[in-house]
Amino acid sequence: MVLRRPSQVGLRLLPPSQHPDVPPMPNPNPPQKPRRRWRRCGEEPRRGGFGVRRPQPQGLVRRQSSGSRADPATCESPQLGFLRVQAPVQVPEWKAVFQDSTLPLMVDIGCGSGRFLIWLAKNSPEPRNYLGLEIRQKLVQRSDFWVYELGLRNIYFMFANASVSFEQLVSSYPGPLTLVSILCPDPHFKKRHHKRRVLQKPLVDSISKNLCTEGQVFLQSDVLEVALDMRNQFDVRLDEFEHIDTIDPNFLCDTQGWLLHNPMGIRTEREIHAELEGEKIFRRMYQKRNHHLSG
Ligand SMILES: C[S@@+](CC[C@H](N)C(=O)[O-])C[C@H]1O[C@@H](n2cnc3c(N)ncnc32)[C@H](O)[C@@H]1O
Repeated sequence: MVLRRPSQVGLRLLPPSQHPDVPPMPNPNPPQKPRRRWRRCGEEPRRGGFGVRRPQPQGLVRRQSSGSRADPATCESPQLGFLRVQAPVQVPEWKAVFQDSTLPLMVDIGCGSGRFLIWLAKNSPEPRNYLGLEIRQKLVQRSDFWVYELGLRNIYFMFANASVSFEQLVSSYPGPLTLVSILCPDPHFKKRHHKRRVLQKPLVDSISKNLCTEGQVFLQSDVLEVALDMRNQFDVRLDEFEHIDTIDPNFLCDTQGWLLHNPMGIRTEREIHAELEGEKIFRRMYQKRNHHLSG
């Protein structure tokens, strides 16, 4: 499958300097051995020194007031400086958000800028609806703006914490859930922060329960440890899921079992940044069995 750059299909890559991320505070005790530093999507290499606040996105995003700590539904991340949603979101009126709410649904968890999903919504040959879940409100507002400008009626972005809202959203959707993607999720390197990783057992349970037969799960990360963590959670469910290369010979894996190619035909923003830095992307794609294996 031919990979196309977002610019070739009319999606403009946002210069890193326009991303709303705030650089993390410097480590007062830097490790002796230089180690690759995982930067958040769109974050620039540090050139201007620590603590330089990046310009906020202009034009596309209406500036919002800072998150109110009195509102239990949201909180502002002290490290990252953005509004996060903590409480379950209200299920939308699916008939109102999609032109045809009975179509198969793809959900992208942690969709970031949304460009990957918008490209699919514009270019996918099969009739399908696309739902992007993102915990950063400003990114959702900007994605909404693009969807509105493009006049797309098969895609919807929600300011939602997938860990708390995925189940109620997908279980209420009238059509079949055919594809779930979790692409380059935040790594949360420290062991005590692993519980913050988006893919936890309840989410895997919910994906497993709601995915239609032969529905697929696409996982990828540029961080081996994170990719392995996600992979292990599906590999142990051999009775429910099988890896795509065992079903379709067009999907090739390396000797470690990672997919050789991106099966979607479009790369995500994080993926592009990582590959530009020469990093490998670790990918797995699972398909739900049409029957549980016994024994
Ligand atoms: C590293 S970025 C990757 C974005 C995109 N998938 C890509 O590959 O370019 C991870 C994204 O997941 C979002 N995220 C983290 N936890 C989330 C959660 N519980 N629910 C929804 N989004 C989440 C973050 O805000 C961030 O935008």
